[in-house]
Amino acid sequence: MQMIPHSRPTIDYEEVNAAVAVLQSGQLAQGEQVLQFEKALASLIGVGGAVAVSSGTAALHLSLLALEISEGDEVVIPSFVCPALLNAIRYVRAVPVLADINRETFNIAVRDLKRRVTRKTKAVIVPHMFGLPADIRNIIALGIPVIEDCAQALGSRYEGVPTGSFGVLSVFSFYATKVICTGEGGMIAANDLQLLEKIRDLRDYDEKDDGRLRYNYKLTGLQAALGLAQLRKLPVLIGRRRAIAGQYDKFLREYHLSMPVCPPDREHIYYRYVIRTKHVAELLAAGRDAGIAYRRPVFKPLHHYLGMTGYPQTEAAFLETVSLPIYPSLSDTEVKTILHPVRSILK
Ligand SMILES: Cc1ncc(COP(=O)(O)O)c(C=O)c1O
Repeated sequence: MQMIPHSRPTIDYEEVNAAVAVLQSGQLAQGEQVLQFEKALASLIGVGGAVAVSSGTAALHLSLLALEISEGDEVVIPSFVCPALLNAIRYVRAVPVLADINRETFNIAVRDLKRRVTRKTKAVIVPHMFGLPADIRNIIALGIPVIEDCAQALGSRYEGVPTGSFGVLSVFSFYATKVICTGEGGMIAANDLQLLEKIRDLRDYDEKDDGRLRYNYKLTGLQAALGLAQLRKLPVLIGRRRAIAGQYDKFLREYHLSMPVCPPDREHIYYRYVIRTKHVAELLAAGRDAGIAYRRPVFKPLHHYLGMTGYPQTEAAFLETVSLPIYPSLSDTEVKTILHPVRSILK
């Protein structure tokens, strides 16, 4: 049986040619391709600059270091997100403070976030979950330094403005399943060029005058060439995601099932198509039988790892959501196949 995976990168001859050109150039490590990739992303987001790194996690780690967040400082993050955020906070020995999410958007709930802020709060990391921008304007208004996490949201917009241009820093991931991919990879973008310079310095350990702790978080030329090829196609990649989301919406509407919400001031890129249902286990099992990889959109909420309670909306989202495969290389036939078990379980 031909499986429909939950994610699949869209790699075409452009990426293959770009990779071959780098191999033939002999410049495999960080070089011109990386600089070009950084410029292209900064220009797309509309910020002063960007620094490419080896992963989204590295981007988060260097962002926290650049903001001089250290032992005892508190950093707020939502509970409904992958552990990369928690890990980055732990790398700098800061204290993760979890906030609950908004029921409709699955993004960090501004009211709950506000409640969690103390004198020790040094930053909030705001992931735009599943490709839908968080309520970033109201979060910025709280006056806490914001790190936007655009790992799932490259190309999305809030009030017509690209996400990634609101925070003091913003991070991106180019992991194999992301909106654009380089296998592994990440980026930090910002308007503050001094902060970016600090990050650039920490990314690489060689040929430095002092003995400060530094990292090897560099992106390779090969990865950057892939990233550039992918970035050029971003409108097409997002266009296909939206077209598939449109087909899913139409189907759910026909069966009077609830669709993912997108407030009118935001532009969703449908990195994930997350539906809410009381029949999660049945749907996951039906998918397994039919060779379709439905998934829980978040493997485990962070408050479970930390043994905490008090996150009712995160808990509900964990128990009641399923993510349907959605990526540009899905054919229309595959889209229909994906909906078969949904029809039989949810109608
Ligand atoms: C919201 C978010 N932030 C950060 C990351 C970490 O990115 P990476 O896997 O490139 O380290 C991910 C990856 O899944 C993510 O979804």
